[in-house]
Amino acid sequence: METEIVSINRTDTPESIDRKLSRAGEIIKQGGLVAFPTETVYGLGGDALNPQSSRKIYAAKGRPGDNPLIVHIADMEHLGRIVSRIPEKAEKLAEAFWPGPLTMIFEKSKLVPYETTGGLDTVAVRMPSHRLARLFIEKAGGYIAAPSANLSGKPSPTTAKYVIQDMDGRIDMIIDAQGVEIGLESTIVDMTGDIPMILRPGYITQEMLSRAVGETDMDVTIFDSSSAQAPKAPGMKYRHYAPKGELVIVEGEPQKVVRYINEQTAFYRAQGKRTGIIGTDELIADYCADSIKNAGSRNDSRAVARQLYTFLREFDDEGIDYMYAQSFAESFEDRGFGQAVMNRLLKAAGHKVVKV
Ligand code: TXA
Ligand code: MG
Repeated sequence: METEIVSINRTDTPESIDRKLSRAGEIIKQGGLVAFPTETVYGLGGDALNPQSSRKIYAAKGRPGDNPLIVHIADMEHLGRIVSRIPEKAEKLAEAFWPGPLTMIFEKSKLVPYETTGGLDTVAVRMPSHRLARLFIEKAGGYIAAPSANLSGKPSPTTAKYVIQDMDGRIDMIIDAQGVEIGLESTIVDMTGDIPMILRPGYITQEMLSRAVGETDMDVTIFDSSSAQAPKAPGMKYRHYAPKGELVIVEGEPQKVVRYINEQTAFYRAQGKRTGIIGTDELIADYCADSIKNAGSRNDSRAVARQLYTFLREFDDEGIDYMYAQSFAESFEDRGFGQAVMNRLLKAAGHKVVKV
């Protein structure tokens, strides 16, 4: 399949944007697939109400069919058609955080095919804030099923370059545009019980949610890798966001962390292996490795989030065999979002943490 790559940038006029997104919307209406930017990560979109489109999404990603998709909407009016009930707390959360990086789980209506929900009677819904994403959803008829636009098992793409790397030849169109600012996937909250339950941490933190609706819970499996329970979001059970090489997180006093990491990289380099480090401003000058990535200030969880997946992808491109990252667990000032960043880093590392 020939994949059309459409750039939208500052030189575009409202008319040219309209023309490009109308074409993208037409592809969706005809059952095709279009990758598009959102404020969190790039999505791989298809018509959420067309079972064939959802099947194509699974095939393009190489994703297991029991891992449900998020339905993206641009208009609150559309929510009522795809869910069987809108709990009062969900209305409050929508008012507080939509459009934005929040996904809510509802009981689904008949309109949503099981192909989209991975066989579940519930449906995940998000209203993104990215301006082009919203226009695109409108042009496509209002309901876009979209997982992250990566091949299954790879980090979610935050730049068009990596969407192209994974999806060129597999889908109809890729929209290349700015505005993927957060860099981590949306917060997922299950609204089907009395107390909203966080299934995946993200930019919208537990504290923010609780401020809007009172008590909230967190799925215990998120931070406990040894939990015997299955995660409530089916996708959280898969080894996700993983680079090709081995990633280890190192926790401890800064100077000890540096010493440990440098010993490890020296050891592997002596064997002809390639090594990489994710560090921050404070320690970056002290590290030795083949590839060193600076995530910015240790306290700035947003900067780390924005770059994390790109770093992991770059390590793959550079053929890095062994990677190390300082732990950010203790350093972020905003604990809530810091937790979300650590959650993704721990997953990428397969929960390998060394304490020094
Ligand atoms: O930020 C995001 O959420 C991005 C952008 C494109 O919107 N999308 C995204 O989709 O991250 P994906 O498919 O990579 O992750 C969706 C997660 C999976 O872990 C899936 O299991 C969970 O949402 N999920 C979807 N529907 C669900 C449901 N009905 N019940 C429980 N979990 C659900
Ligand atoms: Mg994903």
